[in-house]
Parts: sequence; structure tokens; C-alpha cells
Amino acid sequence: MKLNDNLRTILGAPYPFDVVDANKKAAAAKFGADHILDFGIGDPTDPTPRVVREAVKCAVDARAASGYPASIGHEGFRRAVCGYLKTRFGVSVEPDELVGSYSAKFITSHIPLCLATPGAGDVVICENPGYPPYADGATLAGAEVWYLNLLQENNYKPDLSQVPDEVWRRAVCLFLNSPHSPTGITYGEEVYAPAIRMCAKHDVLLVSDEAYSELYFGKPPRTAFEYAGGEDCVVVVNSLSKRSMMTGYAVGFAASHNAEFIKAFATLLRKSTQGVATFIQDGAVAAWGDEAHTAEMRSEYAKRKAALVKALRGIGCDVVDSTGTFFLWVKAPAGQHAEVFAEKLLMEKGINCVPAKLVSKTFGGVNPGEGYLRFSLTAPLWAMEEAARRLAG
Ligand SMILES: Cc1ncc(COP(=O)(O)O)c(C=O)c1O
Repeated sequence: MKLNDNLRTILGAPYPFDVVDANKKAAAAKFGADHILDFGIGDPTDPTPRVVREAVKCAVDARAASGYPASIGHEGFRRAVCGYLKTRFGVSVEPDELVGSYSAKFITSHIPLCLATPGAGDVVICENPGYPPYADGATLAGAEVWYLNLLQENNYKPDLSQVPDEVWRRAVCLFLNSPHSPTGITYGEEVYAPAIRMCAKHDVLLVSDEAYSELYFGKPPRTAFEYAGGEDCVVVVNSLSKRSMMTGYAVGFAASHNAEFIKAFATLLRKSTQGVATFIQDGAVAAWGDEAHTAEMRSEYAKRKAALVKALRGIGCDVVDSTGTFFLWVKAPAGQHAEVFAEKLLMEKGINCVPAKLVSKTFGGVNPGEGYLRFSLTAPLWAMEEAARRLAG
């Protein structure tokens, strides 16, 4: 069969979670699946807030004749996002400056398609480790990927001075994710100001993935819109997956004051997809308008984080002090090989996590995940407490 060469590149890469799943199966055969405490994949297990579910139920009846949904989100949806951006960050965005669509995964993976021209030598700059759909989207769009390694010596923040001028000149976009998954680090002016300066200078879009903006510990993170100079180059992407435990609803947005980008992205979506189901958009309106549930969610994650951090530090792991997201970036104890340590945790204690090398790339001869483990906080609190008991025993 003839296949798109860019897709062939992606097909050829191993799927990291195949290894994790195979290890988990082996542990399940030893202990029984119920014994495994799973801190591997990050899929929230908490129910979607009642206020959202009720809105969706009402919408299903109110919209008895379904009709095609508005492909970039209906007016009410887009106004609700503007309301959220105003209330939460104090920034003004007009409804025609944003595009509602499927999840942040869908949006971020499609942005390179909007910007890159196959064969033109275009580059997409991504963090490493980072959310894989940015690089996969770039590869599918025929662009080259240039990685910014996130290293301890830079407090796990991207060091933009590492990007050669030649790469900036060919770049079409830079993806930044804050709070960052999976390091848990939040960026401020020290990252966004130089990023905006370089992107504005080289006519590059700065795509700020803020999917974890409401899942923070301590000070609320700012949005890229709050920093000066980004009017033409900043695109903010966010979704309700983490904020409102709505992964299965798959609904989010891309917003920008750059009218050319919004028009191009809206056209790409109109030409290739239907909009998010209207009753889900209606549920999203309820979610964007409610902050009470996000406070509850943060308080729950803070408890889980505290319990797991204490347990891991208790066995000599150096846990990066995360300020957001539901991941912990954890160094294996001194002298222990991270992958061997992860296997021991699983096969001896029934505790599953992800060797971080599997979720980061080797770039410039360095794999920033080497020596680290990734733990997800999406399991219920009792699982962290049980992990603490097993680790102490
Ligand atoms: C950085 C980042 N962005 C986006 C997403 C996914 O968001 P959505 O569910 O809206 O696709 C994830 C989920 O794992 C993520 O880690």
C-alpha cells in the first residue's frame, strides 16, 4: 500500500506505553490486576462535575433535532471562553479571536498543518520531554522537529539560547507548555518574555499549551496573553480535560489576537472536521463559567501529591518540586538505574510508574528523561496512601 511518508515515520516509532503495558501484564499475572497501584498513564478517574453533566443532559433534550454543530464553536461557547479568560486572567479576547474545537491534543497536533509547507525546510520547536502530539503533528505536516531539552541545570525550563539562529529562521512555531507536563514546572516572565521576543523577531508563532492552567499548587499560573509583545505571535490553547475532568468530552479552544492565524485555523477545521457536538459545547459553557469545581479538584490533587511525594522521598527519591499538573518528575534513588528501579517497584511492590526515558527523546546526544521516573496523580488518594504503606514496608 502507498503510505504518506511522514505518517510512515510515526508508524515506525515504538509506542512507549507498549513497554509499560507489557510490564503491567506481567505484574498482573503475578499479583492479580487489582493489586496494582497504577501511577502510569494520566487519565483522570474523577467524575465530571455535576454542573456540567446537568447542562449536557438539559442540552440533549433542548436540542432534540441535533443539526450540524458550528465547526468553530457556537457563539455561546466562544463567549464563555472569553468570560473565563477575563475572569481568570484579566485578559480581553473577543469571540472572533478564538476557535473552539476538540481537545488540546487535536488542536496542537493540527496547528503545524496550518503553518508548515512540506519540503520547505520548516521547523517546529518543541520541549523535550513534552506532549508528543506537537512533534507528531509537525512530522505529519512535513516539518522538522527541533527539541529544547529540559534539564535540571536550567530548573527544567527551556533555554531558548540553545536554539541556533538558523533554526529560528526556519521555524514556524514554538510550543511551550506551562504548567509543564510531565516536569510539573510552571513558567513565568523568565521564559515567556524571551520566547515572545524571539518569536516576534523571527515571525514564529508561540503556541502556549495551558491545558493544566487550573491544576496548580500555590500561585495560579499566568497565561501567555499577559506578557507584553505577543499580540501577533501568541496562540493560547486550553481545554476542559484537566480543568473540569472532561477528557471524554474532548473540547477546547485556540485563541489569538493574530487574525490571520485564526482565519487560517478556522478554515482548516471547516474544511476537515465537524464541530464538537452542540450538547457538549453547552456543557462546556457551564464548565467555563464555574470555578468552584476547580478549587475542589486542586485540593484533591494537592492531597494526592503530598502523600506520594512523602512516600517517594521516604525511599530516597529526589522528587522535582512541581507547581502544577498531575505528574511528578522523580529521580530514581542514587545508584539505581531508573528502568530497573521501575521494574522492581512494579514486580515487588505492585506500584506502576513510567520510566521517563520512554516519554522523552535523545536530542543533541542527551535524553533528559534518563535517570527519571514519571508518576501520575490521577489515581484516587487511597492508592497513594497504600503505595506509602508498601514502600515503607
Ligand atoms: C501538555 C498537554 N496538553 C494537552 C493534553 C491533552 O489535552 P486534551 O485532553 O484536551 O487533548 C495533555 C494530556 O495529557 C497534556 O499533557
